[in-house]
Amino acid sequence: MDYTIVLQALWIIIPAYVANASAVLVGGGIPIDFGRNWHDGKRMLGDGKTWRGLISGTFIGMTAGFGLVVAASYINSSEYHFLDLTNFEGFPLMIPIIFSICFGALLGDIIESFFKRRIGKNRGDDWVPFDQIDFILGVLFFSFIMSSILHISGFISYNWFIKHLFPWHIVVLLLVTPFVHLTANFVHKKIHGNAKK
Ligand code: CTP
Ligand code: MG
Repeated sequence: MDYTIVLQALWIIIPAYVANASAVLVGGGIPIDFGRNWHDGKRMLGDGKTWRGLISGTFIGMTAGFGLVVAASYINSSEYHFLDLTNFEGFPLMIPIIFSICFGALLGDIIESFFKRRIGKNRGDDWVPFDQIDFILGVLFFSFIMSSILHISGFISYNWFIKHLFPWHIVVLLLVTPFVHLTANFVHKKIHGNAKK
């Protein structure tokens, strides 16, 4: 495995990282479950999953993704084209593809919270490794579905996911992400002085 695999994997996941981080930074307000409980008497999702986090996280992550599309057009016409970084199919197909990456990341996190509540863990409790990889699983699942829809409906002649995400990329993401996550948490706590968690 060579380093270009690592760069390609990180490139694709940047919009998801941004979406996730933005949800934390700008999230808050009305919870997605509107404060309702599930049949087991515990919260459906909890106060940590909010509409503002979901919507603004998706938008901010997508903006970062569009930045990568522009960057890819420069990189791919430079001496670094061998890195083979995706441009997410450019305009306009980048919109559904990058949407599926950002929304998928936040949806993965939401689904994780659902199961976390079912096993009795409270908001903010640790649940290793799912806290770390929940959004990667969401990205992989949701962007695969979106790529398949775009392929089957004839918008793209191949499956974007299968073309750009090999098993090695997925292994890299699952291994690297927990470290990025733990580092981000550490920085967050330093800045906010352990106030929140
Ligand atoms: N956040 C949000 N909306 C989302 C996702 C995250 O508002 N859709 C914000 C919340 O303020 C949340 C913080 O980001 O507390 C951190 O997210 P995360 O660590 O995933 O949530 P936890 O508070 O740990 O809650 P849970 O136990 O449900 O994961
Ligand atoms: Mg979580």
